[in-house]
Amino acid sequence: MTFILDPLVYPNVIKQSRQLDFHEFSNKVSPVTFGYPPVDHRFPGLKEDISRTFKLLQGDSLTPLTESMMGNLMMVLRQDHLEEGGGWRSCSMFQFCYAIMFEATFLTMYGGPAPGQRHSGMDQLRENFIKFDNMFPLLIAQIPIWLLGRTSANREMLLNYLLPKKLSHWTNTSQFIKRRSELFDRYDSLRDIDKAAHHFAVLWASAGNTTPATFWAMYYLVSHPEALQVVRQELHDVLKLSGVEFSGSEDVALSREQLDRLLCLESSINESLRLCSSSMNIRVAQEDFSLRLDAERSVDVRKGDVVTLYPKRMHLDPDIYPDPETFRFDRYMQDGAEKTDFYKDGQKLKYYLMPFGSGSTMCPGRYFALNEIKQFLSLLLLYFDLELEEGQARATLDPGRAGLGILLPAADVRFRYRMRRV
Ligand code: HEM
Repeated sequence: MTFILDPLVYPNVIKQSRQLDFHEFSNKVSPVTFGYPPVDHRFPGLKEDISRTFKLLQGDSLTPLTESMMGNLMMVLRQDHLEEGGGWRSCSMFQFCYAIMFEATFLTMYGGPAPGQRHSGMDQLRENFIKFDNMFPLLIAQIPIWLLGRTSANREMLLNYLLPKKLSHWTNTSQFIKRRSELFDRYDSLRDIDKAAHHFAVLWASAGNTTPATFWAMYYLVSHPEALQVVRQELHDVLKLSGVEFSGSEDVALSREQLDRLLCLESSINESLRLCSSSMNIRVAQEDFSLRLDAERSVDVRKGDVVTLYPKRMHLDPDIYPDPETFRFDRYMQDGAEKTDFYKDGQKLKYYLMPFGSGSTMCPGRYFALNEIKQFLSLLLLYFDLELEEGQARATLDPGRAGLGILLPAADVRFRYRMRRV
């Protein structure tokens, strides 16, 4: 693998998406990891069909997705955590985030058994998913699944949950998953279990990174009470601007536009993504060509060479981000607006924050992911007082999946929460 280290060169690599392709790599590792047949000549048009469904995560489609997520988050939170009159409750933060985000995301993407109802067996599904996720780096490293203990049986249980006959009975399924189900049905050679495996790949894409990203955003806010206070105030202000005086007893439904106005919250989330993301952008050269690095330099790349960007290095560069290990909730804010100018060697960077990859294959779920995290944190901040329990070491990153997305915490963190009196 050739690593491009200079972030000023990134734009030249990213614009070569025809010659430096992401899908050659993803189509090699994803089928063996998730269990579907490679998307090749046996399924003419499938790759393009799948790519076309990604627009159902963005643009106008983001509004119903965001509304549905809001309702599902509120339902899970109200039924499991919003009890009147309770005092402080203690909990493990990663587990707490996982339980709520996994279920709400699942309901939003795949739908529920009936309107306003939750799936039975969600705890088991989540446990199986976490077990699979723990093996994910080994599967991506192409270790055969039969060498990984019960991973194959575990994956089978996950696929069985997502079989088309089950999905077809669920309601409030997202347009994204509906469209994918319809297009899989057009390919006779895709078996039901293959369709389930495609659905499972999307479940991993949507929950595998969003959940740890949510944990880190929550952790940094709870461990920086002054930032938490500013973000909470911003939330109340945005609600007030829409004529809502939050009293604590009613359900909250923040609209997409209201979420867009939460600049301090967005900056906090971006700052935590800077600190916890470790995604590599892996690209495979499709032909011999000369890659221009800047006005003077270029390098010859051979067909099959792997060219990689590792933005974590840029995210922690003290030239770009002074005091890079420190969480500063307002790092991405300037004069009440989003800050977008960051410099390296005196030159403005086109790319300075890249948790979601780059170029034409940049994560299509990024807007939804950011909204989900905003929604989750907004509800927590509105309804609860939150504190870290004393006497704990600072949370650290587990490097076990370096290069593959959002890093998990090395150990869980205990926190306390209680209903706020507004
Ligand atoms: C691809 C990160 C959430 C769906 C990717 C890539 C990254 C990434 C790094 C590879 C892009 C590249 O190399 O250019 C993340 C992070 C997330 C997140 C950090 C959360 C914080 C989501 C969500 C969804 C999603 C919520 C769906 C609802 C996808 C899909 C791809 C992808 C389908 C493959 C795109 C393709 O094949 O062209 N994501 N993602 N992601 N992501 Fe996400």
